Amino acid sequence: MFAIRPMLREDLEEVLQLEERAFPCPWTRGMFLAELEAPDSRYLVGECELGLAGYGGIRVFLEEAHLMTLAVREDLRRRGLGTMLLARLIWEGVSFGARCMTLEVRRSNLPAISLYQKFGFRVVGLRKGYYSESGEDALVMEASGIADDGYRDRLKDLVRFGGMGVD
Ligand SMILES: CC(C)(COP(=O)(O)OP(=O)(O)OC[C@H]1O[C@@H](n2cnc3c(N)ncnc32)[C@H](O)[C@@H]1OP(=O)(O)O)[C@@H](O)C(=O)NCCC(=O)NCCS
Repeated sequence: MFAIRPMLREDLEEVLQLEERAFPCPWTRGMFLAELEAPDSRYLVGECELGLAGYGGIRVFLEEAHLMTLAVREDLRRRGLGTMLLARLIWEGVSFGARCMTLEVRRSNLPAISLYQKFGFRVVGLRKGYYSESGEDALVMEASGIADDGYRDRLKDLVRFGGMGVD
């Protein structure tokens, strides 16, 4: 029921509406535009019959992909879209040459941490007071070996019921 495709400039109105509701310190239109124009970035959206349901993006620095953002519309959460987007973003990173993926997440964001753990992310660091609006710490998480055959099988298992391949 969700379809994944690259994010376009025309999506930004809906993306910004979702962004405002998902994050206490939302990105601006200009920030998204800069991301879409960067040669080392990949941004995706998930859609369903209700419209834009979620989005996410990465930047790739040599062998490291960094998850820049990931969000799903509040009333459409817990239906597998976060999993589909993250799996596809990891796969995009691998196709760019990445061998690991890193991210920052609020220490209190248990839904996201649980999602990342399913993908094999582990806590590798802490950034004290990283989120300026609240002073909350960020956990730095990393998934290694994402280009390995074993990890590819793991991705396939994770998205099997979402109807999306990673080939
Ligand atoms: C994190 C987020 C993207 C997950 O999206 P989603 O579409 O709900 O994720 P999925 O349905 O694929 O869930 C996958 C797994 O994540 C974990 N998870 C998701 N929501 C959860 C919740 N409310 N409580 C606990 N675990 C949760 C579970 O392990 C879940 O697997 P399960 O449903 O089999 O138990 C979504 O909650 C969101 O947009 N949050 C606000 C924005 C945000 O915090 N983004 C991350 C920034 S680092």
